[in-house]
Formats: sequence, structure tokens, C-alpha cells
Amino acid sequence: MSARGPQSQAADIARQARELLGQVRESRWPGFAPPAKQAAPKPALRPAHKPAAPPRPPAPVIEAPSPWSSLEQIAQVVSTCTKCPLHATRTHTVPGEGAVKARLMFIGEAPGVDEDRLGRPFVGAAGQLLDKMIKGMGLARDQVFIANILKCRPPGNRDPQDDEVAACIPYLRAQIALIRPEVICSLGRHATHALLERKDPIGKLRGRFFEYRGSRLMPTFHPSYLLRTPADRKPAWKDLQQIMVLLGLPLPLPTPRPTEENN
Ligand code: URA
Ligand code: SF4
Repeated sequence: MSARGPQSQAADIARQARELLGQVRESRWPGFAPPAKQAAPKPALRPAHKPAAPPRPPAPVIEAPSPWSSLEQIAQVVSTCTKCPLHATRTHTVPGEGAVKARLMFIGEAPGVDEDRLGRPFVGAAGQLLDKMIKGMGLARDQVFIANILKCRPPGNRDPQDDEVAACIPYLRAQIALIRPEVICSLGRHATHALLERKDPIGKLRGRFFEYRGSRLMPTFHPSYLLRTPADRKPAWKDLQQIMVLLGLPLPLPTPRPTEENN
């Protein structure tokens, strides 16, 4: 009999233990069942047609809070503003005017020659038509707030430039934030494009409400355009009527057609 060393005895014990464990596993006793083989994760099937991405919620407007706490303060800051080259050619700044708690704001493009001379918005020929539009809605001029995208007149009434709009629009946004109107009516393509930051033709944008910083925004035609194109006064009036409905203002009754009897 050969003497066996402790190492080979230990190896025997380990072999026996492995055999026993194997038998126990094969007997499938509860608790000793071999772990179910985990299926390898299948690679995700690529859909034949990429499904349309769900509509993204509008990005929240993250902006530093306005440093101004009143409309007078904004007008004061505007009166000495030199943020864009228009300061050099203006006579007066035209910050805007109207009711502090206006439910409705009209926003035009920029002061013209009359506005620059007087420092008040919409006081020339276009302003007279705007006054009629406001009156037609059953409102008075001092019940609404009237402002422009630019607070200084572009020389020769040329179109506002993007860098001028970018420099000036914080004043208007601060005015809107203080007034918090229910409805903003943007007059013409320049005002509408600057506010909505999209450049579709005004004929496509007008006549429906957009969401704008907590207000509803209705683009319509500019009164200067309506002076040149009277045929478009009818659709513009429809836009204003939509605003009246939203504000709960009474719509004027349609004028009855004359009949034979009362002719
Ligand atoms: N046109 C505008 O856009 N704004 C005014 O104030 C006057 C005319
Ligand atoms: Fe300032 Fe606006 Fe006048 Fe430019 S247009 S100088 S940004 S107030």
C-alpha cells in the first residue's frame, strides 16, 4: 500500500465533491436547478419606416428677468438708448403708450416721420386708420397699448434691420411682461416676424392665434398696407373680430339688407 500525501487526498475530496454536486444538479431538486440560460438580448429591430418623432413641446423661454419695473422706467431708458445706429438720426424716441393694464396690445413696426416728430406711436395716416380699427372693436385708444418693435425711426422709413430688431426688442418684451395683455395684435410682416421669429408671408400667418409669452398673438395686415390695399380690409376686420370674440367684446350686428318693403 502506498502512503498517500495530504495533497492527493485533498484532490480526491475535491473530485468527489464535484461529482456529488453534478448528481445533485442533474436531479433538478428545487433550489438546485441549473440557472436558466439567459437569452442573449436580441439586437433591436430597425423599423422599416422610421416613425414620426412625437411633436416636441415648445422650448421654455429662459431669459434674464427684466431689469425694469415700470413702463415709465422703460420709456426713460429708451429715451437715452444708443444700442443701435438709429439713435443718431432720431428726433424723438417712441416707446409706446396706452393703458398699463391693457387687455389688448397693438404692435407695429417702427415710428414714421410723424411719430418721430411727436414721440408717439401711430399718429400719422396709418395711425388714423388704426384708431378707426380700435373704435370698430368698441374700444377707445386709451384702453389698449400701442407700441412698435423699434423705438426709433429708420431713416427714410426703410425696413428694420435684424441687428436693430435684436438690439431693441428687449424693451418691447419688458413692456409685454409688465402689461401681460390677453391678446397681442401684430401689425404687418415686420412686427409678426420679429415676435414669432419666423418669416412666413403675412398672408399665411394672419387670421389665427399663436401662443406668445403667455398671451395670444393674432397677426393681421398693417394699417399702411390697408391704406394702399382697401380690398384686404375685410379679412383684417375678420381678424379683429376673432380678437373681440376672445376678449368677450360684443360683435356689431350685421347691417340688415334693405328689402323691397322698406325701400
Ligand atoms: N407704422 C408703424 O409701424 N408704427 C407707427 O408707429 C407708425 C406707423
Ligand atoms: Fe435703442 Fe431701439 Fe432706438 Fe436702437 S431703435 S437706439 S435699440 S431704442
